Parts: sequence; structure tokens; C-alpha cells
Amino acid sequence: MSVGALFDAAARDYDRARRKLVPGFDSFYGAALQSVPFGRDEEIRVLDLGAGTGLLSEMVAGRFPRSRVTLVDLSVEMLRMARRRFAGDSGRFEFRFMGHARKPLPRGYDLVVSALSIHHLTHGDKKELFEKVHGSLVNGGRFVNADQVLGETPEEEARYRDWWLRRVREAGISEEDLAAALARMKADRNATLEAQMAWLREAGFEAVDCFYKDRRFAVYGGRKDERQGKEATDGKTRNG
Ligand SMILES: C[S@@+](CC[C@H](N)C(=O)[O-])C[C@H]1O[C@@H](n2cnc3c(N)ncnc32)[C@H](O)[C@@H]1O
Repeated sequence: MSVGALFDAAARDYDRARRKLVPGFDSFYGAALQSVPFGRDEEIRVLDLGAGTGLLSEMVAGRFPRSRVTLVDLSVEMLRMARRRFAGDSGRFEFRFMGHARKPLPRGYDLVVSALSIHHLTHGDKKELFEKVHGSLVNGGRFVNADQVLGETPEEEARYRDWWLRRVREAGISEEDLAAALARMKADRNATLEAQMAWLREAGFEAVDCFYKDRRFAVYGGRKDERQGKEATDGKTRNG
């Protein structure tokens, strides 16, 4: 089954099990928000890649009340849930039904975020995506990815899996939700944190850093350097 079809099937019940399936849910998403250095009242333009039902978009929009958010996803059903979530505030949100792999991304964003989506891409597509994200940011813009990572060794990877299974069972996940998550995880293509931070630097990002890590769950990202704007022909920057 394709990733889009997997999430189409999961969309209706997706939000229900999130806190149980992501150990440290508040710290993980909280770290993504905390890593964004913009002021609360800035009118930032945000792109959320693999936005799903809009969980992360809602958090970003709450923290930056004057932001405008573009949600991208290849699951029509997940995006349908996101439209419903933002139905009362639709002017701030734009929805794009598209894959973020092997397609050009919209441009001109101050902030590109993603949560638990990029690990579905092949490693080649991840590298290419990081280059496209760099291109979609204005100078001085930021990229934050909150995602699953592969253990650096097979032993570490086995520890991550055992830890995750123990935590989700302790959290009281239902057998139905666990089975659905394990089926979706067959489509995962996790890469190590070290490899992904190296790919970000290769894509041109500066100040690449990891802001949070608890076993499999990591938040990392980088900045599109302001100085690149001086040489750029389109010359668009965050502050004018
Ligand atoms: C686990 S969900 C995460 C949703 C949301 N970001 C969150 O934190 O709850 C992963 C989402 O990524 C989407 N996705 C996976 N691969 C994608 C791709 N190549 N392009 C766009 N969306 C993708 C899926 O359809 C799904 O909605």
C-alpha cells in the first residue's frame, strides 16, 4: 500500500492515539516550537510538510498568531481532517494536496516545519528535499524537522524499538491502534540523525543543530544564512 493510502485509511482515528504513540509528545512538539527564534507577533509565512491532520500547524499557528500556514500532504483524507480543524479560521491556512518528494515546493517561506513525515522518503529523496526546503526559504529563514531517526548501530536501533514498544504499551495503547501503527511503520525509511544533519549542511543550511532527542524522536534543523541573500538574485530576506 502507498504511504498516501496508508494515511488515508488512518485519517479518521489519527488524532486519537497520537499521545500514546509518541512518547514524550509534549516535549517533542514543544521542542520544535521552542527552536523557532521568531518573535510571537511576527507575520511569518510557514510551510508544513506532511502536515496530516494539522497537529503541528495548529501549534505553530497558536504560538505565532499572525502567521499564515501552508499545509502540504499527499493524503487527501488527512488534509480533509486538517480543513475541518481549521474551518473556523480558514483565511490563515492554505491546503495543498501534493507530495513533497520529487516535486518543486512553493517558495518564499520564513519557516518550514515538518513532523513525523520525512522519514517516509528514501534517503535520496530526503537529501533532495532538504535542498528544496533551502530553496523555499527566504534568507534568514528556518527549517525545523521533528521526526523519527534510525539508531546509529543495529544494537541502538533494537533498543529504540524495544523502548518504544514498552512506552506505548505503558501508555495504554489499544491493540487495534498498535497494530495499525506497526502496519504503517513498515513504510518507514528512517535515517540516522548524524546523516540527516550532514545532508542539511550539504544542502546549504547554517547553524545546523539538534534541539531535542529522546531515543527515536529527534528535533533538528538549520538556518538559511542571511549572507546568501547578498549574492542572491531574487534577494528576498525576512526583514525586507
Ligand atoms: C505521521 S503523519 C504526521 C502528520 C503531522 N505532521 C503530525 O505531526 O501529526 C505523516 C504525514 O506525512 C504525510 N506524508 C508522507 N509522505 C509524504 C510525502 N512524500 N509528501 C507529502 N506528505 C507525505 C502522510 O500522508 C501523513 O499525513
